[in-house]
Amino acid sequence: MFGLGGCGGQNPCRDGYIRDIQGYCQKRTEPQEPEEEEEPEEEEDTDSDTDSGTGERYHPPGFDDPAVHSVPAKLNQETCTDCHGQQLDGGSAATSCDSCHPQGWRTNCVFCHGGEDNSTGAPPRNLPQGSGASTDVFRVHSAHVEGTLHDGFGCEHCHVTPESVTSPGHLFDSTPGRSEVVFGEGLASLGVYEGAGSCSNIYCHSNAVGGGGDYEHTQGPVGCGGCHPGPESSVTELMQMTSQHAFHTDVADVTCDRCHSGVVNSQQQIVGPELHVNGSVDVTISELAYNGLTCTGTCHSGSGQPHVHTNYTWGPPPGGP
Ligand code: HEC
Ligand code: HEC
Ligand code: HEC
Ligand code: HEC
Ligand code: HEC
Ligand code: HEC
Repeated sequence: MFGLGGCGGQNPCRDGYIRDIQGYCQKRTEPQEPEEEEEPEEEEDTDSDTDSGTGERYHPPGFDDPAVHSVPAKLNQETCTDCHGQQLDGGSAATSCDSCHPQGWRTNCVFCHGGEDNSTGAPPRNLPQGSGASTDVFRVHSAHVEGTLHDGFGCEHCHVTPESVTSPGHLFDSTPGRSEVVFGEGLASLGVYEGAGSCSNIYCHSNAVGGGGDYEHTQGPVGCGGCHPGPESSVTELMQMTSQHAFHTDVADVTCDRCHSGVVNSQQQIVGPELHVNGSVDVTISELAYNGLTCTGTCHSGSGQPHVHTNYTWGPPPGGP
């Protein structure tokens, strides 16, 4: 009737959509048998409401195509909420985004962010869309939100996390198309985002003794000795750790798992990811009582010799942090 309607009859609608009498692609109401003509449920936002008989439409033809309208929405090129209402459910435009979008889309975090690796919304599809991993603003989203050495970190460790599309500070904010990194709520609350996938003063990448660590997303996965000294580290490196780490691991042949059994096993693999990089140092020593400061009890070194500890104090790193 208005002679354009975006698809104008030339292109078929996407799967799950049918063309209405005015030529617009509308979401098919539930799986029942498709009715080509009317969809009563969606009456409220019929196009004729907004055309007011003038034949003028606000948006250019083809705007119903998600590939077209998602870009200005995601980049906030114009503020959709101005006309479509604060909740995008109609507003002065009298067109609710719900008329086509699937139910629950506002809180479906993969609707816009994509769900290529997992269902958290990370890694997010690049803004506005597409392009390969090499250009991702933060290549290691999946590694962080899924986690192998640690439990998955929620978005809140690095961003203010919205509950819905329309949450304040999310896409309809004063910084269109930019995802602010805010460490305040997470483990790395003192961290600084340097831009371009680089961070500094990050607790999670630290040795847990001498302040925060730095990391760039192009550096790839971090090995065991990459943050704090690990099972393979030299005595000099182990001496940067608190107290008797170097002595125990190097001289007495006491492996990490003997004192951190909740976290690592005897192959020095992480078995307690929920305790690793969780903001507290977890010590579990089956032979000794450790009170956070001193150890008491008898244990056997690698050579099998019993060694009695009586309130042995665990102190600062002998080599300095
Ligand atoms: C200045 C007011 C205004 C703004 C801002 C606005 N819209 Fe609209 N929108 C309308 C009106 C009015 C309609 C009803 C159809 C028309 O006039 O094009 C509409 C309809 C639509 C439709 C249905 C189009 C069709 O062909 O059936 C989509 C999709 C849409 N808007 C998306 C958006 C998105 C996404 C944004 C933000 C990027 C946005 N709108 C911003 C006024 C606006
Ligand atoms: C005329 C139908 C129609 C209307 C009205 C509509 N959309 Fe869409 N939009 C779609 C379809 C179809 C998709 C794809 C849905 C899917 O993939 O499940 C989509 C997807 C999107 C996406 C995600 C694109 C992506 O893949 O990353 C955004 C963002 C979006 N719409 C914004 C809006 C906003 C904001 C409004 C309301 C102002 C709106 N749309 C109204 C049809 C519409
Ligand atoms: C370990 C920190 C961290 C975690 C956890 C994290 N992000 Fe990010 N995210 C970043 C960094 C860093 C950037 C890059 C920001 C920049 O350079 O502008 C980013 C960028 C983004 C972008 C913008 C993408 C683009 O192409 O511009 C989105 C969207 C995003 N993150 C969503 C999420 C979501 C959703 C989650 C949770 C499921 C999440 N992030 C978890 C650090 C994180
Ligand atoms: C309609 C599309 C859409 C949906 C649905 C959506 N987001 Fe976003 N989100 C964006 C866009 C676009 C950006 C980046 C642009 C910006 O922030 O200005 C973004 C940014 C983010 C960021 C980075 C911080 C920020 O606000 O910039 C996080 C975290 C995030 N989204 C999480 C979520 C979560 C969690 C959900 C589900 C509750 C969700 N998003 C649903 C489009 C969406
Ligand atoms: C990305 C940095 C990072 C990497 C890589 C890393 N760790 Fe850690 N690790 C930490 C931080 C930070 C702590 C401080 C305690 C905490 O927050 O859990 C820690 C603590 C520990 C602890 C003490 C117990 C505890 O509280 O978790 C052990 C044991 C440990 N790590 C073993 C390992 C082993 C084994 C590997 C290699 C498989 C490894 N770590 C790789 C950052 C890392
Ligand atoms: C003899 C027992 C013992 C052994 C063996 C041991 N640790 Fe620890 N570890 C501790 C104690 C005790 C702390 C201090 C806990 C506290 O702060 O209360 C600690 C703290 C840590 C920390 C926090 C940073 C620091 O230097 O205090 C890390 C990381 C860590 N251990 C990793 C390891 C790794 C990796 C190994 C194996 C190479 C290992 N530990 C072997 C007892 C041990």
